[in-house]
Amino acid sequence: MTAAGAARTALVAGNWKMYKTEAQAAELVARLVSLLGTGGSGDSAVEVGVCTPFTDLRAAVASAAGSGLRVFAQNMHQEPEGAFTGEIAAPMLAEIGIDGVVLGHSERRQYFGETDRALSAKVPAALAAGLTPILCVGETEEQRNAGDTERTLRHQVTQDLEGLADSQLAEVVIAYEPIWAIGTGKVATPEQAQEACGFIRALVSARSDPAGAALRVIYGGSVKPDNAPELLALPDVDGALVGGASLDADAFAAIVAAAR
Ligand code: PGA
Repeated sequence: MTAAGAARTALVAGNWKMYKTEAQAAELVARLVSLLGTGGSGDSAVEVGVCTPFTDLRAAVASAAGSGLRVFAQNMHQEPEGAFTGEIAAPMLAEIGIDGVVLGHSERRQYFGETDRALSAKVPAALAAGLTPILCVGETEEQRNAGDTERTLRHQVTQDLEGLADSQLAEVVIAYEPIWAIGTGKVATPEQAQEACGFIRALVSARSDPAGAALRVIYGGSVKPDNAPELLALPDVDGALVGGASLDADAFAAIVAAAR
């Protein structure tokens, strides 16, 4: 059994952010596929994915073909089409073979005005197009210091999932990413990660017990090969969303190995 527990398949996803040109993406994915063996996900104990810039998606899908490695986008618009200059719609991603999409990453919330209201439409729109949403939630350092971590997570999870039927909840992956741990090298302690991921699961269980039990909750924020084993062994942590360390094939493969 995996760290994810009896019924849940671990997911380790690399969030490349705004790194890698198309040529670099093809090379990194090819290297990952060779390091991970038959498939990013070949052994089915762990699902592996890369979340790339839009311009890299086709090359990543081509390089990953037949390997089981999943390919995710990093954002999308909630409408299936329309007059929204500069945006990308879910059906556009689905048609080119994308498996899912990161939604609500803290960098989008912080720098690009992503709101919980928009997310409450984006999450069902992703599912309607057949994409797996990786919904990111997490508190700032100020919120944690003020004792507001649970209130922040409750607000985000409740609002972002409100457009889903209970029967759809388990199709979402929730990434708990404390903002103070992203790109800072300051990782959550195992106690903090377990407590927050368990709390997120309980929020979903309050709507539907089977959904809470099946839901994958992953941790993100300065995950590296050396801290991954401890984090991935936690009972309510079903994988990792990896930023910086996912840009290096060897480091990312080492984190995947920790999930196996
Ligand atoms: P990091 O980023 O691993 O570089 O902290 C995580 C993320 O933003 O998803």
